[in-house]
Order: sequence, then C-alpha cells, then structure tokens
Amino acid sequence: MDFIELAKRRCSVRAYEDRKVEPEKLERILEAARIAPTAKNLQPVKLLAVQSGEGLEKVGKAANIYGAPLAIIVCADHQRAWTRPFDGKRSTDIDASILTDHMRLEATELGLGSVWICFFKPDVLREEFSLPEHLEPVNILAVGYASGMPASPDRHDKTRVPMDNLVAYEEL
Ligand SMILES: Cc1cc2nc3c(=O)[nH]c(=O)nc-3n(C[C@H](O)[C@H](O)[C@H](O)COP(=O)(O)O)c2cc1C
Repeated sequence: MDFIELAKRRCSVRAYEDRKVEPEKLERILEAARIAPTAKNLQPVKLLAVQSGEGLEKVGKAANIYGAPLAIIVCADHQRAWTRPFDGKRSTDIDASILTDHMRLEATELGLGSVWICFFKPDVLREEFSLPEHLEPVNILAVGYASGMPASPDRHDKTRVPMDNLVAYEEL
C-alpha cells in the first residue's frame, strides 16, 4: 500500500472484536519494531507482548486498553539509551516511540486496529510485570480487530492543522 494511504488509514481504535491476533501477524508487528531505527543504533527498547487473560488483566489495572486482545508494552532501557552530550537529553522516549509507530503502521497494513496509550499508571505496570528499575514503560500499544466502522482516511483535513501552521520554510 502507498505510504500516505496507509498512514491515512491508520486511526485510533477504541473498540475491539473478541478475536485473537494470529501469531503470524503478531510476528510481523514485532518484526516491524525490530527493524526500526534508534539513536546510534543502540536499540534501548524492550517489548512485552501480552495476550493471556491473566496478563491483560494485569495491564488493565494500569490502563484502559479498550478490550484489545493484545497489548504491547514498550519499555525504554535507561542503561542502553543514547545521551546527547550537549544537554544530557536521552533518546529513550524517542526510540521507544519509533518502534511503537512502526508497529502500529504494520498493524494497519495487516488489517488490524490499534491505539497508542500513554494514559497509564507506570508504577502499577512496573509492579504487575516486575519491571526492573532500568526499564521504563513508555507506551502501550493495544492491537486487535476493530469492532465497528474505522475513522475515515479522509478525516485529516478536519482533524489536523493545515500545512502552513505546521511548517515554516527557512525561518519561523
Ligand atoms: C503519544 C500518544 C499518546 C496517546 N495516548 C492515548 C491514550 O492514553 N489513550 C487513548 O485513548 N488514546 C491515546 N492516543 C491516541 C490519540 O488521542 C490519537 O492518536 C489522536 O487523537 C489522533 O487520532 P487518530 O489516531 O485516530 O488519528 C495517544 C496518541 C499518541 C501519539
């Protein structure tokens, strides 16, 4: 699929069918994450894919995942992330989010819905999944088969700022 068409088709899905994500589709989603770029190629990200009833219940204590049958907890590894020497900014959130976006676009390509979730209780996730101190949960990607009509791929004229609000050429 043409990239812009794929990106337009992707939308946040907040209702899911009671249907599992096939293992081969999960594998492709995870492969999309694996090949993503990270700062200095340090790959400071760990993914925790959760599909079991027990696991999803644990995720549900930290976040609303809208009944999705698969939650991928995207954790940044603070022991391995790149740090910009000039101001100490770390690449943790950036790297974790590139992997997250790769995964959701692949999910879209596979006919799956997804929603990116940051509204979660990190301390609850940490405790439920015994995350070590150096792993920070940054995003949860909920994935599954959308129930109901997806948002229109033509919605962006109304839901995004116009190009001249977004971009400046040469100077602000
Ligand atoms: C960094 C980030 C965090 C988000 N966190 C949440 C969230 O916690 N819960 C939720 O329902 N949607 C969340 N979203 C989804 C956004 O609300 C959604 O992408 C945005 O409104 C645009 O709609 P669209 O994805 O359908 O194009 C998040 C999206 C991003 C990129």
